[in-house]
Amino acid sequence: MSDHRIQFPGLQGRVYLNYGGQGPLSETTLRAIADGYRQVELLGSYSHAGNAWVQQELHAAKQTLGEQLGVSPATLTLAENTTVGCNIALWGIDWRPGDRLLLSAWEHPGIVAIAQVLQRRFGIAIDVLPLRPDAPPAEILADLAAQCRDTTRALALSHVAWNTGDVLPLAEMAAFCRSRGIRTVVDGAQSAGVLPLDLAALGADAYAFTGHKWWLGPQGTGVLYLRQPLQPTYVGWRGLDGGHLAEGQPQVAWHQDGSVFEVATSAYPLLAAWRSAIAEVNTWDTPYARYQRLCALAENLRQRLAQIPGVTPIKQQPLATGLVCFTVAGHNPSAVARHLETAQQICIRAIPDPLCLRASVHYLTTEADLAALVKAIAALVEKTPVPPALVPGNQAST
Ligand SMILES: Cc1ncc(COP(=O)(O)O)c(C=O)c1O
Repeated sequence: MSDHRIQFPGLQGRVYLNYGGQGPLSETTLRAIADGYRQVELLGSYSHAGNAWVQQELHAAKQTLGEQLGVSPATLTLAENTTVGCNIALWGIDWRPGDRLLLSAWEHPGIVAIAQVLQRRFGIAIDVLPLRPDAPPAEILADLAAQCRDTTRALALSHVAWNTGDVLPLAEMAAFCRSRGIRTVVDGAQSAGVLPLDLAALGADAYAFTGHKWWLGPQGTGVLYLRQPLQPTYVGWRGLDGGHLAEGQPQVAWHQDGSVFEVATSAYPLLAAWRSAIAEVNTWDTPYARYQRLCALAENLRQRLAQIPGVTPIKQQPLATGLVCFTVAGHNPSAVARHLETAQQICIRAIPDPLCLRASVHYLTTEADLAALVKAIAALVEKTPVPPALVPGNQAST
């Protein structure tokens, strides 16, 4: 592991536990970014040779992602991030006034914003799927059944909740929705690169994620998987096989695969760098072994934090992902995150709802990283003792 970690400048001299925000870039990935841009310059931007290189990179990126996700490259659209992918999927539904969108209670603000704009634009209604930490799959499925109505057209949800680390029973939820003719649109920002994924088997209609978090790729890379084609809504020349005006009318031939949603000029060299990052991750054991290591580390952290007086993990059950969310009684999460970064070079983040701290544990995380965070939180509590009334379990006595 130390040979592997040494490749990441962002992991040196700090305790990095914010992979759910942004993954660090390795020296190889940084070089691949520079090499990609250099290659375009050498071949000539928009020259025949340059265009051939771009086509080859687009093809290679989808090939690599298809292999990682267990789906055909033709089902993939390259998008700049998770939110663009979710926009394509949600705007691609042929909404009519009175239709309903079911949104999980834990969606990221960007997805909530899409829902609000769809509501205003098409006169649809929004329903909310209630969620609570550690809810058993049967409870979630019962709530899903209770919230779906005849006019529900789509369910939008995250596979892994960004605010608690819960993994939702996606395969079962997607199967239920399919049986009711409801599309499942999945935000995979916190699941891709963590859970070993087989998207064809999961059965969701749309699954979007970014390269810049758990996959350790550059910002500006992402992908959308679509089980079946949708209406293109926001389009451009990259989605076309040809287009012109004939007798004053637009005549366009669309690509017959996921590239129909790719709009226009993009930062193509980043795709080569993302592929390089994926290849590098894959040098470290199998996806399942990486997932097992990450879960074991995260669960170890959760248990150690729980032993500090006044520290309460959001989840009480063993973790099935790398997000460790917790509160420190009497301490504001944003202030704690800022203090840890500035005073101790420990990077974690605050979450607004539930108001808590979130440490993201990757397979790159070490025991020393965990020990440093536990020690820092314990020292914080020691320095500013938690008022007895705020220690969990003491409330009843006050
Ligand atoms: C669950 C979830 N969805 C969406 C996003 C936004 O991701 P992106 O910038 O790739 O659109 C995040 C980022 O933190 C997230 O955690």
